[in-house]
Amino acid sequence: MPKIVNSWNEWDPLKHVIVGKADNCCIPPAEPATDAKIPEDSDMHGIDGPRSEESIIKANIQLDNLSKILESRGVKVDRPTPLDFNQKISTPDWDNGTMFGCMPPRDVILTLGNEMLEATMSYRSRWFEYLCYRPLIEEYFNNDPDMRFECAPKPRLTDESYRENYLSEDITVDERLKMVAEKRFVTTEKEVLFDAADILRMGKDLFVQHGFTTNLKGSDWLRRHFPNHRIHTLNFPGDPYPIHIDATFTPLRPGLIINNPTRQLPDEQREIFKKNDWEIIDAAQPAHNQPPPLCYSSIWLSMNVLVVDPKTVCVEETEVYQCEQIDKFGFEVIPVPFRDAYPFGGALHCATTDVYREGDCEDYFPNQ
Ligand code: GLY
Repeated sequence: MPKIVNSWNEWDPLKHVIVGKADNCCIPPAEPATDAKIPEDSDMHGIDGPRSEESIIKANIQLDNLSKILESRGVKVDRPTPLDFNQKISTPDWDNGTMFGCMPPRDVILTLGNEMLEATMSYRSRWFEYLCYRPLIEEYFNNDPDMRFECAPKPRLTDESYRENYLSEDITVDERLKMVAEKRFVTTEKEVLFDAADILRMGKDLFVQHGFTTNLKGSDWLRRHFPNHRIHTLNFPGDPYPIHIDATFTPLRPGLIINNPTRQLPDEQREIFKKNDWEIIDAAQPAHNQPPPLCYSSIWLSMNVLVVDPKTVCVEETEVYQCEQIDKFGFEVIPVPFRDAYPFGGALHCATTDVYREGDCEDYFPNQ
């Protein structure tokens, strides 16, 4: 039987991928921690319920188009099975008015080697999101005898998992940045928490952002779960909303990373890259001053690109400065229209998760 699941890093030639869907997506009602996680000037505050049919159709046109572009490059594309996200969910500890959606598979599923791992997740509204990927993961499991199907421990997500009164109404952005710099995040260390999109895979080394959606216990769990890998916990103090690493730190090929210039990796955490002759270069400025309406993410989705192989990168087509920078690095840039999909959970890296990339587990950081 064929090998179906294999991916060790963010750049080897992509052969099989999951692309999300916008169907049935909701803006979930407030839950502990959402206030801290939505920018204060965002139009998301106080709004919940199903997203408009028109916006879902527009996002799906762009997701379907991304799928076609990847297929035209020889990449097999699978799609998740959306749930009816507009329904109440509960566990013995809490209930929540709706779920979220299944546009960003990168948040939920971590593929490492022959393993697909369902992350704990850190929002109540996203507790059941793994169900959208189960039909695919079960199919891979049934057809690839080497595939490992794993689930991280489901968290209880009681109020003890979130700092009480993390933000008062009148907190300034400077105070917020100070809290982040001091690593005082909204998420507590009560239990293991991580979203898969806080993890970057670079062969033997995994780089994990410690922030609002992944705590230190999450990094520690990953260290114990992947004993043959080295786990490095990173912080990006300039980000007032440290949620998911992939609009902050983006490896493009071995030896080259772009870093969000407003969220610089601290000097002591750069050491491992310096020692191994990796370049960390400031990402180009975004082309837009604002994210599209009702979007959870920042304008830095500009750098949330999908590397198709070490010479080819998909970049959102209106992000002209990011396209230009990546072109100058010597890549072929594939421009992909995607801004209509942003509000549903991010850009091109978020909207995909690897099933198969060629290549093996290499050591790109021999000098530790
Ligand atoms: N959470 C990623 C960003 O919006 O910048």
